[in-house]
Amino acid sequence: MARSALLNVMVQAALKAGKSLSRDFGEVQNLQVSVKGPGDFVSQADFKAEKIVHDELMKARPTYGFAGEESPEEKGTDGAHRWIVDPLDGTTNFLHGIPQFAVSIALERNGEVVAGVVFNPATDELFTAEKGGGAFMNDRRIRVAARRVLSDCVIGCGVPHLGRGNHGKFLVELRHVMGEVAGIRRFGAAALDLAYVASGRLDGFWESGLSPWDVAAGLILIREAGGFASDMKGTTDIFGSGDVVAGNELIHKALLEVANRPVPSR
Ligand code: IPD
Ligand code: CA
Ligand code: CA
Repeated sequence: MARSALLNVMVQAALKAGKSLSRDFGEVQNLQVSVKGPGDFVSQADFKAEKIVHDELMKARPTYGFAGEESPEEKGTDGAHRWIVDPLDGTTNFLHGIPQFAVSIALERNGEVVAGVVFNPATDELFTAEKGGGAFMNDRRIRVAARRVLSDCVIGCGVPHLGRGNHGKFLVELRHVMGEVAGIRRFGAAALDLAYVASGRLDGFWESGLSPWDVAAGLILIREAGGFASDMKGTTDIFGSGDVVAGNELIHKALLEVANRPVPSR
């Protein structure tokens, strides 16, 4: 599989940041037992990973814009290109010693995501995609799952929590979806959830209240793996709305319909 120079830069940045996160993840396990806990340490790990990604990407393309979760957006003199980066997606998992987290890097060109990398250093799984070039996991081609009916499907989701999201709306969605599917999962790292849809591990996924860095790389993985993604209304305004619904063509459509059913009268 031949990668473009740009995708190579993204992969190198993700691997380097992943190495730093891996080292820090080991330390988190020691800090779990301390009175102060690993909270501050994890914030430092997050910032460190973003700096590594930032410096690698900007060294290669100094004129591009940079939108990372942990720092104010840099506009860049090249108005067409922007990096969209989540240096540590799945922070709560990382903090709790759960090996489900990732570095997520996307490249946007004229408002369209054209390349994406999602790397989980704990499992050494590297997901990559470029527009028109297909999607890969560790250099093996990936495709979305082929299941045709929700009753056979395992569906991922995001669950709102203390201080975050619309709990009532989610409970209505969950009530409808769980009655139609073979299983529901909440793994806790949206970039990986989307990569799992791209690789057919999950048949579909939905979540609200996400930011562009949570989803940008995952979206191109899904599209290049033959899948479909939209916001909860079925439009492409995923960054604007913060919602995402994804799956193969049939499951995406079915999930949209089921998750949008109105509040039951009793
Ligand atoms: C979070 C994860 C999580 C999702 C949250 C995100 P973070 O990102 O992707 O799965 O449910 O909404 O904010 O904070 O770990 O980078
Ligand atoms: Ca995130
Ligand atoms: Ca993050």
